[in-house]
Amino acid sequence: MRVLGIETSCDETGVAVYDTALGGAAGLRAQAVYSQIALHAEYGGVVPELASRDHVRKLVPLIRQTLAGAGLGVRDLDGVAYTAGPGLVGALMVGAGVARALAWALEVPALGVHHMEGHLLAPLMEDDPPEPPFVALLVSGGHTQLVAVEEIGRYRLLGETLDDAAGEAFDKTAKMMGLPYPGGPQLAALAEQGRPGVFEFPRPMTNRPGLDFSFSGLKTQVLLAWQGSDQSEQTRADIARGFEDAVVDTLAIKCRRALEAAGTGTLVVAGGVGANRQLRARLHEMAAGLGGRACFPRPELCTDNGAMIAFAGALRLAAGQRDGAGAQVVPRWDMATLPPLAA
Ligand code: KG4
Ligand code: ZN
Repeated sequence: MRVLGIETSCDETGVAVYDTALGGAAGLRAQAVYSQIALHAEYGGVVPELASRDHVRKLVPLIRQTLAGAGLGVRDLDGVAYTAGPGLVGALMVGAGVARALAWALEVPALGVHHMEGHLLAPLMEDDPPEPPFVALLVSGGHTQLVAVEEIGRYRLLGETLDDAAGEAFDKTAKMMGLPYPGGPQLAALAEQGRPGVFEFPRPMTNRPGLDFSFSGLKTQVLLAWQGSDQSEQTRADIARGFEDAVVDTLAIKCRRALEAAGTGTLVVAGGVGANRQLRARLHEMAAGLGGRACFPRPELCTDNGAMIAFAGALRLAAGQRDGAGAQVVPRWDMATLPPLAA
């Protein structure tokens, strides 16, 4: 089954074609992402109205480009998947409208996909994919969650952030230290120049049991350290390193606990912060120490993309799931309410 995937939940327009007959990494026939970073940079964050308008401009040309890259025409598609939530409603509606119109015209099924399920399943597109049961760490700009996956489609929340998401903490901390939007990847690059141990920050909520997170206090600690410092380039890098070490350490401690609680050695990591080099190295090491392994998608499939939506949509469409007449997009959506893959 060849499925077109469309992602428009935030500030990236993503399109891809996934072919279930080929499977694995080969199944990803083509993908393209258009990032709106330049558009939002002058506002220091995503402006929802501008995001929606830009998706309208970019989506159809990107679909054309992706199909050409795959050597396919629209008539070769067997289904269309799009992100139906969670995300910015106006932006989601652009993807949903195009996807459903295209599916209707082609007389193929359409399906709204959960954005975080897309992230969670992205590592399964890589070679030697993990098999459930496993624990998933979802770390993006809007979410930080630990999820027990007994089978694909059945998700049980083990823990989540009580305030800021990990990516949000990266972005806000970067902004406080004067780095341009979107700060997360820039802060991570700066941390590589920083010296470990010059600034020590707390590892929030690790000294008591439980699998929840809290990152907003850490941000305040960084602000105080930055304001009380000489604000030199080296200091900025050292603080960035101290911050990144604290986040990576905290995530690693909680992931280890979650694996032990769930009785599995397989950790799947996805979402934008999963592109972080130090986090990847640390979680590989931690999982190997438990006799298991950590599985990540390649970095460009960690951040928002159409491939993960095409893949998650293809699995569900191939299982016979499709939109009903009342399908709608939603800003919030609990993953635990998703139907299992096989009914
Ligand atoms: O999954 P994603 O692309 O979008 C959401 O669904 O939110 O994640 C974006 C988040 C941003 O907060 C960004 O700063 C963060 O992921 N991010 C990173 C890195 N690359 C992206 N954070 C730390 N290190 C990175 N290398
Ligand atoms: Zn995302």
